[in-house]
This record gives sequence, C-alpha cells and structure tokens, in this order.
Amino acid sequence: MGEELAPIDKAKYAAARKASEMIEDGMRVGLGTGSTAAWLVKCLGERVRGGMRIRGVPTSSRTADLAREVGIDVVTLDEARWLDVTVDGADEFDADLNLIKGGGGALLQEKIVATASDRMVVIADAGKAVETLGAFPLPIEVIPFGWQVTRALVEETLVSMDVLGRETALRMDGDAPYRTDEGNHILDLHLKRIGNPRQLALVLNQMPGVVENGLFIDICDTVVIGHGDGRVEVRDITDGTISAGRVEVDEADNLFSDLSE
Ligand code: 5RP
Repeated sequence: MGEELAPIDKAKYAAARKASEMIEDGMRVGLGTGSTAAWLVKCLGERVRGGMRIRGVPTSSRTADLAREVGIDVVTLDEARWLDVTVDGADEFDADLNLIKGGGGALLQEKIVATASDRMVVIADAGKAVETLGAFPLPIEVIPFGWQVTRALVEETLVSMDVLGRETALRMDGDAPYRTDEGNHILDLHLKRIGNPRQLALVLNQMPGVVENGLFIDICDTVVIGHGDGRVEVRDITDGTISAGRVEVDEADNLFSDLSE
C-alpha cells in the first residue's frame, strides 16, 4: 500500500482522472508534460490496459517515456497529423482560459501539439487560477546562439510593455543552463503582472533568438479544476458551461504510488 498523497497531489489526480474520462476509444490524444499531466498519462494507461485504444502524441521525452511505460501507443505528431484533443497542465490560467505554461520546460512542443488539436483541455489544481497572468515567471525558449544578446533585447523590449516586473533569469539545471528537448535555453521573465498577454506574446515571438513563449492565448477550450477532497469543476469556454463533479481520490494512494514526478 502506498503512502497517502498530499492534498495538492490529490487535487492534481482528481483533475487528471476527470479529464481522462473525456477520452474515447480511437482518439488521437496530445499528452502534456508536468506532474498533473503525468497523472493523466497514468490514468489513460489504466484505461488502455482495460482495452481502450488511443494514439498518444507526447509533448516531451519525459512524457514519451512514461506513456510507453504505461502501455499507450506513442506516435509522433507527424504520424498523427491532427489530434482530437490535447490534455495538459498549466502554471496559471485566467477567466478567459489564457495560460502561462512552460514551468516544466516543454512549452514549445506543448504549444505545437495543442495548436494541432481540435480541443485543448487543461488540468490543474485550484491554485493555478488567477485574475491576471504574470505572478508565475513567464518562460520563453531561446536559441543558445547569442542568448545573452537575446536576453538584453527582451529586457529592453519589456520597458514598453504593460508589465510590473522586468527581471529575467536563465533557467539552470544544476551548474549548467537548462536544455529543452530541442537543445534550447529557457529565460524566465519575472513580470509579476501581464496587462496585455496577447500583445506581449506577439512582440516576444517577433524577436530573433526567441523560439516561443509560454503564453497560450485562445488555445485552451476547457479547464478541469481539481480539489484535494475530490471535487472537480469543469469550465468550458466554448459553450460557457460550468459543471461540478467528484472523483474518488483515495484510490490514487494505492494505484499510483510509483509516480515519480
Ligand atoms: C510544462 C508545463 C506544465 O504543464 C506546467 O508547468 C504545470 O506543471 P505541473 O502540473 O507539474 O504543476 O507547462 O512545460
């Protein structure tokens, strides 16, 4: 029997479990990255072992390893071409379901995969809900070549943007700069408050050296919010519906005690 999970992990599990029930036989599914998305992959693996057939397109090498481990048929995005749905975590989401993503360093593949999907479902604990994006540092993926010059250009550009903070930090992995699956670096922008996320996303992506930013604008359709006691809330921005439900969270202690993330 596994150790009892912390409430935050139960909340993540609840959101992931609920979202896993939205997946139907035969679907092509984008598989997100991070601790909440890892719960989803585990839940889907359980359904696959029960007979459901899906093809999964992972958004990182970590997720690919986990998906294979739990028995999901892993294909590339080019093989799948288009996806029925992508389910992924987020670092922040606002009332319009605009997101900050990339805390796990996988924002580039995550954005490509989510954009190639009929629908994006975000799974999150309630602490990820914000009125205004920006308290969580905004990750941007930059090419290693000349990254310090790119950083200086980003800092200069932030002066004319509607943000509260302008500090930037190169993400590290121990003593070395963090490397994404594409071999790039991540700059974390400590903006505190992003007044105009749409404008900022466009401006950042126009800079040479910036590959992609972690603002997901008009990409997410649905958020599944999990709570530690098993309550879940599903908000759908496309039809404006909000529904509530409940998931049995105690089963997670035993089912997935080997979850490493
Ligand atoms: C990875 C991401 C993650 O989805 C985001 O960081 C949330 O992670 P977690 O579910 O572990 O809180 O964007 O690049």
